[in-house]
Amino acid sequence: MSSQIDHLLTENRRFAPSPEFAADAVATADLYAQADADREGFWAEQARALHWHTPFSQVLDWSNPPFAQWFADGELNVAYNCLDRHVEAGNGDRVALLWEGEPGDERRVTYAELTDEVKRAANVLRGLGVEAGDRVAIYMPMIPEAIAAMLAVARLGAVHSVIFGGFSADSLRTRIDDAGAKVVITADGGYRKGRVSPLKPAVDQALADRGAGPQGTVEHVLVVRRTENEVGWTEGRDIWWHDAVPAASGEHEAQAFPAENPLFILYTSGTTGKPKGILHTSGGYLTQATFTNKVVHDLHPETDVFWCTADIGWITGHSYVTYGPLSNGATQVLYEGTPETPHPGRWWELVEKYGVTVLYTAPTAIRSFMKLGRQIPQQFDLSSIRLLGSVGEPINPEAWMWYREIIGADAAPIVDTWWQTETGSIMVSALPGVTETKPGSAQVPLPGIGVDVVDDQGEHVGNGNGGLLVLTQPWPSMLRGIWGDPERFVETYWEKFQNKGYYFAGDGARLDEDGDVWFLGRVDDVMNVSGHRLSTTEIESALVGNEAVAEAAVVGASDETTGQAVVAFVIVKQSYLSAHEPEGLADALRKWVGEQIGPIARPRDIYIVGELPKTRSGKIMRRLLRDVAEGREVGDTTTLADTAVMSVISAQVK
Ligand code: WT7
Repeated sequence: MSSQIDHLLTENRRFAPSPEFAADAVATADLYAQADADREGFWAEQARALHWHTPFSQVLDWSNPPFAQWFADGELNVAYNCLDRHVEAGNGDRVALLWEGEPGDERRVTYAELTDEVKRAANVLRGLGVEAGDRVAIYMPMIPEAIAAMLAVARLGAVHSVIFGGFSADSLRTRIDDAGAKVVITADGGYRKGRVSPLKPAVDQALADRGAGPQGTVEHVLVVRRTENEVGWTEGRDIWWHDAVPAASGEHEAQAFPAENPLFILYTSGTTGKPKGILHTSGGYLTQATFTNKVVHDLHPETDVFWCTADIGWITGHSYVTYGPLSNGATQVLYEGTPETPHPGRWWELVEKYGVTVLYTAPTAIRSFMKLGRQIPQQFDLSSIRLLGSVGEPINPEAWMWYREIIGADAAPIVDTWWQTETGSIMVSALPGVTETKPGSAQVPLPGIGVDVVDDQGEHVGNGNGGLLVLTQPWPSMLRGIWGDPERFVETYWEKFQNKGYYFAGDGARLDEDGDVWFLGRVDDVMNVSGHRLSTTEIESALVGNEAVAEAAVVGASDETTGQAVVAFVIVKQSYLSAHEPEGLADALRKWVGEQIGPIARPRDIYIVGELPKTRSGKIMRRLLRDVAEGREVGDTTTLADTAVMSVISAQVK
């Protein structure tokens, strides 16, 4: 972190928007003044860009903080806003999805076609008993049906919980059970890294493996055929999408639901082992996702080809693949596979082929392309690109400059966008065409958003100082709670700055001399690996769940490509050691974590050690382990119960 701070103090490159870009930009500087003059009026105006079946008369109800209500007496249908209204406006023939499968198969789906598919799918779900408020789990590859599934659930006023296809059966089961899902929508599999990655078998396992627990709530599994791998079938429970959806009626009138009707739950890692089901609702969420996609991505729906590379299993995929772009009537690329398959230039080939104009991706991807070398993107014509976005973790100035020069032809503005699963949409970012950008800084709160950097008492730190990032005002797409756990919601985000009424984001940040925000990473036991949030405790509990492991401590160590990497220190049980050879155990444990949580959680390194550094009260000092994992001199050990333990660990690691 300190090297990052040094960097930002010496970073003085600035990139003003070109006059041509500024002339045609969606965002204008007066948005800030408008929002400052009347914050609620500003958001009301953005909300009116949507179609309301019943207009709202009230903007924000903050009478019971931290439980906000936005546009509460208004009624809308989220799917209608993303589909029917564009068809009714005469844009049914506009392409919504330029889809490409990893093997190279293609589909172009227009707004009219997507609307038709969603209406039929909504009828199917309705027939399976799904009603407003019911939960539907979605576990799918990046195919058009995944988006249709989300919108079909939303159309019924039901609640989706998308679970990233890379999560294990075990993670899937926990999430299905926590939400009490009635239906699961999945596919036989998807293509990843040139292979079929099966999904349906994980659903079967998740639904079978219930141990001694209560019987599940899932009544039906709707299955898209994608990869044609063999799958098990439970008669009466399982239904093929291709049998049910085309046969269903294409008539479905979108019903209006209250603005605060829940739209989705999305699980994310917190500081404890149990993932949090972040709850988002309809009107405020769609307002801010639509607005930010328009102004931050400078979206011109008639001419742009937008590509957000995130999977729909993450919040970025919810807000900037499904809801923002479709609500704005944009044309976007949807790609099923991994960036390096079948060749390392695959993304750039897609940019050239589809004429992508706005690209939104993560620093970890940019850094891996950097490592592969500029000659790969330089083989393709990237001249269609006019704006670049970054999301998920701090982008170091080197990667920022490479992104600008190699991908953006030294001309495309870069927007570094800070936000979280909890915030629902972008909160801090430059406005393209307005802001002079700085490599490495996410810069300024968006119009209508209140951000500050404060000390532990909640006092503003002032320019040139570091502290904690807080959100000082409620915002339309804010989380409305943690599914089934209102206390944890209050405790996690609001208790720390209760006196001020601030939302605590869990990020360290610094204000530079201009007052621009520089993000410095998490201040809690949450790691950020390739832009994905992982909990140290969750991985520790997976490790101690293995028969060989007595104790485990996990840290996030800085990594050149992935931002942070998972490093685990493990004490093996004596009983295990007396019966087994320790050879291969670290590998077996890596695999185990992958099976328990998902491949993204697999530790990069596992060190088998004799002891862990603990304070006298028994708390593991992860800070010292991080020093070891990052190859640094070990810091102050005086508060350890046994000060010798770190030299033993350092020796064992070498
Ligand atoms: C955490 C949220 C936002 C969608 C993807 C991740 C980090 C995110 C940035 C950025 C610095 C960033 C923060 C945040 N983060 N964007 N532009 N600069 N840090 O969503 O999984 O909810 O993770 O990602 O630490 O708290 P998420």
